[in-house]
Amino acid sequence: MSTEREQFGSRLGVILAIAGSAVGLGNIWRFPYIAGENGGALFIICYVIILFCIGLPILMTELSIGRAAKKSVGYAFETLEPKGTKWHYFKYLIIAGGVLICAYYPVITGNILYYLCGVVDGSLLDKGISAHDQYQDLVVENSYKTVCFSLIAILFCACCSWFGIKKGIETVTKPLMFLLFIFLVVLCGYSLTLDGASKGLELFFVPNFEDMTLKSFLNMFHAALGQVFFTLGVGAGTILAYASYMKKGQSLFNESIIIASLDTIAAILAGVIIFSICTSYSISVGAGPVLVFESMLTIFKEMPGGHLFGSVFFLLLFAAAITSFISMYESTNSFMIDSFNVSRKTAITINTILVGVLILPACFASSFLADVKPFGMDIISFEDFIASNVLLVGGAFIFSLFCFTRYGWGMRRFIRSVNSGEGVKLSRFTIGYIKYAIPMFIFIVFVLGLIV
Ligand code: PHE
Repeated sequence: MSTEREQFGSRLGVILAIAGSAVGLGNIWRFPYIAGENGGALFIICYVIILFCIGLPILMTELSIGRAAKKSVGYAFETLEPKGTKWHYFKYLIIAGGVLICAYYPVITGNILYYLCGVVDGSLLDKGISAHDQYQDLVVENSYKTVCFSLIAILFCACCSWFGIKKGIETVTKPLMFLLFIFLVVLCGYSLTLDGASKGLELFFVPNFEDMTLKSFLNMFHAALGQVFFTLGVGAGTILAYASYMKKGQSLFNESIIIASLDTIAAILAGVIIFSICTSYSISVGAGPVLVFESMLTIFKEMPGGHLFGSVFFLLLFAAAITSFISMYESTNSFMIDSFNVSRKTAITINTILVGVLILPACFASSFLADVKPFGMDIISFEDFIASNVLLVGGAFIFSLFCFTRYGWGMRRFIRSVNSGEGVKLSRFTIGYIKYAIPMFIFIVFVLGLIV
């Protein structure tokens, strides 16, 4: 196996690539509606506390393992585990989370691409047809369109990965992330000028303790924890894969704070945009996963400048989704490269065929397979539940045990790896907290995820 590993060209490149992995559908599409369903402001306070107290240390475990091993999850455990231990068996469970997300994430990305094209050429802005009917047309009547657009999204990612880390992934994610943040700020400014914006802001920022029960609190807590894992994209080996191409210049505590902050800023901006628009146009913020497709399109049909506003919005959503999908793709590619010693191009070819087949159940979830309802959920919701609530949480638990206990890599090596480089370092106080509290919290999430 070759020991020369490609690296990101710049610190900004690696931060934007990892932030690009974190900032995705989870922030712009999932966060606002989950916040809407779970009490708005209270959920957001809970989410931010959990993100920095639990999500941040887990992000550091993946970053430090990847940077120290210089390998993806396909060979990272083998490189760092104490002799004779069997941590590497867990790599299959970890990569399974990423693969399962690849089975539905490109489908939603493909839907966004379809909406982007339809809004840009104006065909979806026809006022004679309702946004609801247009969505049904895509996912039920003409689900082959979902397949085509998902395949285009997959091929786009394959092309980015084909050119490698610096020339492919870094070149694409850097400008896309810049554009994304600029668009978010512009759209946020615009949405604040809408008539109902102040009502949206109140819902989003002012906590309401009325009607709070223990059960609703536990539900909100669990939803916030799940959102943190999904939005940071931890537990699937994705961050680990990117970290394996990182240079040693900066402390990982430093980089984690920047990445988590960018992710939170993106989510808050998206929340303000969507809440302001929803309260201005009397749309329920708890409308669920279809919110972005049906409600936003309704708004773009009605509002002055809807063509431009809608094109920018779907472009933004597509950019966010694609940078996250590229990271999942890279994680499975590098897994194959490191585990089976194949070339990058062979790994990409196999992966593209594999993902192209895996997406089919999700593509037909509302048409031919509408009657298939494992545990009462449609196929996409079921895949999302198993990936986010079981596999990502399980993966994060394994990473934390590996880093924090003496049976694995161990706390001393972990801290040395996190603190090496310039910037903010982990203090003694945080070390005690991380070692005991984090695995316990993750375990609680895991159990809560299965019973609540
Ligand atoms: N963080 C991504 C998002 O918010 C999703 C993701 C999950 C990315 C797992 C990588 C791994 O959309």
